[in-house]
Amino acid sequence: MSITILGIESSCDDTSAAIIRDGVLLSNVIASQSVHEEYGGVVPELASRAHQQNIVPVVDTAIKRAGITKQDLTAIAFTRGPGLLGSLLVGTSFAKGLSVGLRIPIVDVNHLHGHVLSHFVREKEDDTVPEYPFLCLLISGGNSQLVLVKNYNDMQIIGQTIDDAAGEAFDKCAKVMGLPYPGGPHIDRLAAQGDAKRFKFSKPHIQGLDYSFSGLKTSFLYTLRDAVKENPNFVEENMADLAASLQATIIEILLDKLDKAVKQTGVKTVAIGGGVSANSGVRQAVADYCERHHLTAFIPKRAFTTDNAAMVAIAGYYKYLDKDFCPYDAAPFARVSL
Ligand code: KG4
Repeated sequence: MSITILGIESSCDDTSAAIIRDGVLLSNVIASQSVHEEYGGVVPELASRAHQQNIVPVVDTAIKRAGITKQDLTAIAFTRGPGLLGSLLVGTSFAKGLSVGLRIPIVDVNHLHGHVLSHFVREKEDDTVPEYPFLCLLISGGNSQLVLVKNYNDMQIIGQTIDDAAGEAFDKCAKVMGLPYPGGPHIDRLAAQGDAKRFKFSKPHIQGLDYSFSGLKTSFLYTLRDAVKENPNFVEENMADLAASLQATIIEILLDKLDKAVKQTGVKTVAIGGGVSANSGVRQAVADYCERHHLTAFIPKRAFTTDNAAMVAIAGYYKYLDKDFCPYDAAPFARVSL
């Protein structure tokens, strides 16, 4: 009998629902929240309210697009954390309610596991998926981690940021440049037309496999502050070169530790995931690196880089196979490691 999983994601500012049948994606619906744009960041209370408005139509659309009915569902997977508590509560409570109504189990998913396992979402039966063990560079607005993935239920963080995440470095520097939130995609777009060698920003000297991005942010800020004193139009006149140089420095920092981790672990496969893995420069740099070192690269489709329920459904599918169900008294959690 086939196994049909409804995945629900509501950890931050995207309400998403997806249906996966026997590991193959049938639908993936995402409602992004534009309400935060004018505040320059996600406002938690507004996010929870928008999730409440979106969740019923989003789940309904995912079920319809998949060409199934509620009664065809085998289990419901939901993001339990980490994320914004109010937002998580909406998805968690909805999953519990629907599961009671349909008399099917719920499976809780760690959001970060979801990002790592997004590479196992198959859109066609014969899509290839990574072979274990592999290394996943997980880069998002809240995390920058090097994860050694030994199995779907056995992951080890071997390096992570000690301060800002890569996405924060993009967003905070973009903010200083006067770009809208989130700034990452704007930097990406501008960088394509700029000279990446024009400006030099400081890079961290951290031992081991850990990352740090706060020094880069400070050095970026000081460069702009000093230059604007001389020329008030400096930022406007140098947008593309600033974006390209910033992006190139972030990529250099990411790739430096990735290379160390590959050598240390001896893996033959490298994957990337999380919102920052949508960045054109990061994607190209990782693909080139893997080609040079004869490694297999898994670069996710852009739709699977940012928060989505397809990754929650696939992570839930594996837990379902293990009969690893979630009790009804399980509460969401705001912070947790892998
Ligand atoms: O994984 P994600 O959707 O959620 C959070 O961790 O919140 O990641 C969001 C992050 C933001 O920092 C955003 O600026 C960044 O991903 N991002 C990008 C790009 N698209 C999204 N950064 C650089 N280039 C992009 N194209």
